[in-house]
Amino acid sequence: MDFLQLVKDARTCRRFDEAAGLPQGALPWLVDCVRCSPSAKNQQALRFAAVSSPEARAALFPALRWAGALPDWNGPEPGERPAGYLVMCAPKDAGPTVRIDMGIAGQTVQLAATSRGLAACMFLSFDPHVIAPIIDLPDDLAIVLVIALGKPVEIRRLTDVPANGCLNYWRDSDGVHYVPKRALKDILIREL
Ligand SMILES: Cc1cc2nc3c(=O)[nH]c(=O)nc-3n(C[C@H](O)[C@H](O)[C@H](O)COP(=O)(O)O)c2cc1C
Repeated sequence: MDFLQLVKDARTCRRFDEAAGLPQGALPWLVDCVRCSPSAKNQQALRFAAVSSPEARAALFPALRWAGALPDWNGPEPGERPAGYLVMCAPKDAGPTVRIDMGIAGQTVQLAATSRGLAACMFLSFDPHVIAPIIDLPDDLAIVLVIALGKPVEIRRLTDVPANGCLNYWRDSDGVHYVPKRALKDILIREL
């Protein structure tokens, strides 16, 4: 597949076929993709917990804050919830470059999942106090990002930024999810 098409397909997904679960070994495979990715000073400070058991998933779900731009929606109903999670952790004493590693890791997971017919949603809005005991978080680590994963059932489409300039995503009456992205000419500021 063309790489740009993969990137376009790798839209955030918030509704999944929960019963479909995840393929055996999918979560460790995604972490392996991160393992082979760039890292500032090659410090490879990030650590991951893979969460897929029904009990752990049910305990983790209430910790997540879904879709701030959709105030009338409180997150997916049972049956459409994620089939698994990667909980990304970093040392409490990590320097600022770990934030760049976090972004690389998050997008690597998103692209890798999409390449296998899965989909993801990254979360910076979560309650770490709920998640820490579920994953038996070591004292020297902090939870920095949660990535929900599963087989997508939500149709997601890229679209142009509307005339009013609002960058919020929205859903139409059929539940199709639209994500506005700026035009190339507006972000490529110089071509020398
Ligand atoms: C670092 C980061 C944190 C995010 N945190 C949340 C979150 O807490 N809750 C949520 O529903 N979506 C979250 N998202 C998903 C964004 O809302 C989504 O990326 C954005 O709407 C653009 O959609 P797209 O990923 O399909 O391009 C996060 C995305 C990123 C990259």
